[in-house]
Order: sequence, then C-alpha cells, then structure tokens
Amino acid sequence: MINDKKLLYSGMQATGTLTLGNYLGALKNWVTLNEEYECLYGVMDLHSLTVRQVPADFRKNARSLYALYVAAGLDPEKNCIYYQSHVSGHAELSWILSCFTYMGELNRMTQFKDKAAKHADNINAGLYTYPVLMAADILLYQADLVPVGADQKQHLEITRDIAQRFNSIYGDVFTIPEPYIAKAGAKIMSLQEPEKKMSKSDENANATIKLLDDRDTIIRKFKRAVTDSDTVVRYAEEKPGISNLMDIYSCVTGKTNEEIEREFAGKGYGDFKLAVGEAVADELAPLQARYAELMADKSYLDAMIKMNDEKAQYYANKTLRKVQKKVGLTERIR
Ligand code: TYM
Repeated sequence: MINDKKLLYSGMQATGTLTLGNYLGALKNWVTLNEEYECLYGVMDLHSLTVRQVPADFRKNARSLYALYVAAGLDPEKNCIYYQSHVSGHAELSWILSCFTYMGELNRMTQFKDKAAKHADNINAGLYTYPVLMAADILLYQADLVPVGADQKQHLEITRDIAQRFNSIYGDVFTIPEPYIAKAGAKIMSLQEPEKKMSKSDENANATIKLLDDRDTIIRKFKRAVTDSDTVVRYAEEKPGISNLMDIYSCVTGKTNEEIEREFAGKGYGDFKLAVGEAVADELAPLQARYAELMADKSYLDAMIKMNDEKAQYYANKTLRKVQKKVGLTERIR
C-alpha cells in the first residue's frame, strides 16, 4: 500500500520496438488500471542483458520504451516510471532470493527452454535465473497486482512460491502478488503463423505489428495476415488466424465476438482484415504522435527519469533493508 492505494507493478524488456502483443496484452491494461492503483512501471533493462545487445542501440531502445509508456497514457508525474538498472536493490534482492529458489523450479520454466533453444550459442546463467530477478522486481515494491500477458503466468507463479517460502521462514515480509491477465489480448498471435505468439524477435516482418509502424504498413500487414480456406468470420479453435484478428479487433473496438461476427456476416475476409488494420492504425495514431513529441523534448523526459529513479529507490530500499535484516546480514553502522 502506498497512499492508501494498492500497488500495481509491471514492466517490459528494453529490447527492440514494442509489438501490438505487448500493447494489447499489457500496456493498454496498465493504462486502464492506472487510476485505481499506485503504479510502478520498470524499463527492464537488466533482463534485456540475457541476450547480447549492441550498447548504443540498447540505450536508444530503453529510452524509446520509456517514451512509449508515457505516450500510451501513463503519467510519469503520477506513476513511477523508472529504469530497473538505476535501482540497485533489484540485483541485490535477486541474489538473496536466488538462495531461496530451487534449480528444479527454474528447470521447469518454459520461457527458459524456449529461449535456450533460440539462443543455443548463448545459454547464460542470467537466462536461467531470469525469473528470480523478475520475482525481485515485484517483491521489492510489495506489489499487490501484476498485469501481464499470458506468457508471464509461470513467472508470476514462481514469484508467489518464492515469496511464500521466504515468508514461511521469516514472517510476513513480502506481499503475495496477484497476476492480472485480461481475457482479451492476453496472447496475441503472429499474423503469419497464428499458432505462434506475436514476438518482437520474429524474423518475418509481416508477422508482427510494431507500435511505431506507420498506417500504410499496419494496413498492409493485416491484409497479408494468414487466415484459412473458409470464408466466414467466426471465432473457433480451428480458425486461429481469424480468431486472432477477432481478438485484436475486439481489444481495440471493445466489441464482443458476437458483435464482430454479426458485423461481418456475408462479407469476405478482405473487408474484415481492412477493418482490423484501420482500427489498429486509428488506435495507435495518437500514441505515435505523442511519442514523437516526447522524443523531441529531451529535458522533460530526463527530468521525469531523474525524479522517478529517486522515488523507486526510496521504496526499494525500504524492503531491501528489511530483508537484509531478516536474513541476518549485518546492519550498516551510521
Ligand atoms: P516482455 O518484455 O517479453 O513483454 C512485456 C509484456 O508484454 C506481454 N506480451 C504479450 N501479451 C500478449 N500477446 C503477446 N504476443 C505478447 N508478447 C508479450 C508480456 O506478457 C508482458 O506482460 N519478464 C517480462 C518483463 C518483466 C516483468 C517484471 C513483468 C521483468 N520484470 C516484473 C512484470 C513484472 C518480459 O519479458 O516481458
């Protein structure tokens, strides 16, 4: 609790440009939940190091991510939007928590298995302990709620397990966080292989809508989206391409599946894909305009980053000192 409000915590890796999946699965929900909670959002740059980064591009991406959070509608004067690497407590708590995490638990993480298969030449220890750092992010701020897409569910479960284990030994140190995974948009799929999650790192540019794609590109990518040999706009397991487009359209317009099916009854896939493309482009246009303004105003973003780093540091230190004391580390002499 901060200021009598429950605490919401989330973040994204600072790699590449965000996709429509990141937006509909997470960022859009953050904006919706924003008033109700005291919110902290991290630019998760430490997590990004698990994959090799080009330093100059990495720094640009991190700043771009910060600006995208703000452009999407998060107010950095009300919400604490900060860089994970600027608060040293994340790494410190992560070490302590790694001593309360079993290798057997980490071995079960599907995201580790997927990433290890993808980056077979760089299966580093950071990739393996990635969920412990994520647990530290969340527990450091005593978060009540963590809005994420479906792919992060397992990481939330291990976070809860670690927190419960720690609390059972040392008393009520950590708040046990609840995941918030919205029904619509929790798993946006690739436009080219709709059995696969839409992912930043997809090599096929047509598979992914980037938040900064221009209107024509967005519409073109939707026109090329893979569907099926049927002609009816209907939500069904055996129609993953159309169902994914319906999910996207539903998130953006607020229409239910029944309403969408009725709207496109008797019309072809071409009309439907065009409508989805236009709706997404309309949704992203104000975000893109605000993003351009923010990136041009260096002093405003710098001031927000500085102010929020200090705020996050303050909250983080409170938990970190408590944890250090509980496990028996010697207190500093003042
Ligand atoms: P990341 O950076 O991979 O993704 C950021 C958020 O976007 C969601 N997401 C999706 N949602 C729906 N459909 C998709 N295709 C899709 N792709 C991504 C993710 O579920 C996520 O919510 N480990 C985290 C970052 C992180 C974090 C944290 C999150 C680090 N520490 C603490 C919450 C709390 C990650 O890699 O997300």
